[in-house]
Amino acid sequence: MRPEDLAPWKRLTRLAAESIKQPLSDWMQAPDRFDRLSFEVGDLLVDLSKQRLNEEIVDALAALAESAELKRRIDELFEGAEVNPTEQRPALHTALRAPLASRPTTYAEAVKETLTRMLDFAERVRSGSWRGATGKAITSVVHIGIGGSHLGPELAVQAMEGWHGTGPGVRFVANIDRSALDAALTGLDPETTLFIVASKSFTTLETRVNADSARAWFLERMADLDALQHHFVAITENVEAARNFGMSPQQLFPMWDWVGGRYSLWSAVGLPVAISAGADAFRELLAGAHAVDDHFRNSPLTGNVPVLMALTGIWNYNFLGVSNHAILPYSARLALLPNYLQQLEMESNGKSVDLDGNAVTVHTAPIIWGGEGTNGQHAFHQLLHQGTRSFTADFIMVGQPDGNDVHGRWLLANGLAQSQAMMAGQDAEDPHRRVAGDHATTTLVLPELNPFALGSLLALYEHKVFCQGVIWNINSFDQFGVELGKTLSVPIFNQLAGNSAVRQDASTRGLVELLRRTKE
Ligand code: F6P
Repeated sequence: MRPEDLAPWKRLTRLAAESIKQPLSDWMQAPDRFDRLSFEVGDLLVDLSKQRLNEEIVDALAALAESAELKRRIDELFEGAEVNPTEQRPALHTALRAPLASRPTTYAEAVKETLTRMLDFAERVRSGSWRGATGKAITSVVHIGIGGSHLGPELAVQAMEGWHGTGPGVRFVANIDRSALDAALTGLDPETTLFIVASKSFTTLETRVNADSARAWFLERMADLDALQHHFVAITENVEAARNFGMSPQQLFPMWDWVGGRYSLWSAVGLPVAISAGADAFRELLAGAHAVDDHFRNSPLTGNVPVLMALTGIWNYNFLGVSNHAILPYSARLALLPNYLQQLEMESNGKSVDLDGNAVTVHTAPIIWGGEGTNGQHAFHQLLHQGTRSFTADFIMVGQPDGNDVHGRWLLANGLAQSQAMMAGQDAEDPHRRVAGDHATTTLVLPELNPFALGSLLALYEHKVFCQGVIWNINSFDQFGVELGKTLSVPIFNQLAGNSAVRQDASTRGLVELLRRTKE
């Protein structure tokens, strides 16, 4: 059903028109506003009190979710129903982090076996009992993968830095630009390096080309094909392609078609995280995500945090006209969160056709962007405070264990001040110094940046994305839009090499010829 045909849509349209008559700062006057509009899930707190929300609006939004049968759809997600109908698959990332007894039985054993094997391998690498071909322990890991096979692992490795212990350092290569691989290989000793090739399809161009070059780099130095099995492992669904690359079954960790790439951190794709932070930390990451899964599946809609985050987004994008959403982590270790969420939200819900194949007539996912605080304050926040665009933002704040730490206290003070400035603005006689304010933001608080809290945070966003997809009646689990560019790049690649005549539109032909000349 079209979202705008759901009964509460009209009521929400009326409420939106009413709500903008009053500045956000007025909404803040109620002393119990924070208590009423901030919610706990696991160890996290999500503060929606700086959103243009009140009980009446939340009720109307919950009624919208009910009329979209969100509860039923959540059950279907967890039960392994075909929630990705264009690819005839379930999306069972929640099964990867569920206790054995509560996983859908068809997948339970495979998940358990892979997790055990992957964590055992990670610990062997960490402890030095996994040896390279010449008997030396592994001191460096190079992870090759892109998109969902890269963004989550790099974010988690960086975020869990405090849990590193004695694990080897992990470097990431995603871009096909040769300089990315060269930078990752600089200073590495092949005898002590382990390569992880992560690709669900094992056909992704960037990963294939980088893996081939990494293999060539390795063989140039080790000159021993047998050595590969001590230094290369792959995580993939495409066993045959990985075998053709030279991987033996012992070097392979499986992925499954019922886990989407951008939802795969919890699978063997998390191997670099387990190597870097340890098996216990990885289990904690899963436990944190599972705590949110439990909450998501069992809480009523008006107290269900991912549902409320999703509905807040719908309210902003579909009723208040906001078209972009900033992710602002006030934590250097979460600097990659905007990139991760960009893929999660934009690849999942960047759709304009609904589940029935009809054109969507309301806006779907906004542009997701952002950057770490406080750095952004000295770059793009000027536009947020005085520009002409509307936006919403999520502030992600991390409790500082040492209240006397000057860095930590300034970090928090700045994050809180920014969300306050965006909400309240500032009047001034001089128009150049006026700050309009009235921008709604959400603040998510992690008590500390530990694996459990990180797992919860990421699961929260996954479920938010799913709920929005349900209300927009779109498939959040396919991504056919990315294929066109891949197809078009093949003839251009050949033309750049001078192998075929340039039959392109005028602009592309001009650019191909120019770039071919600059190469000569
Ligand atoms: O091209 C988009 C995409 O398919 C993403 O959905 C995916 O996460 C990424 O490429 C990498 O895919 P793979 O893991 O198959 O290499």
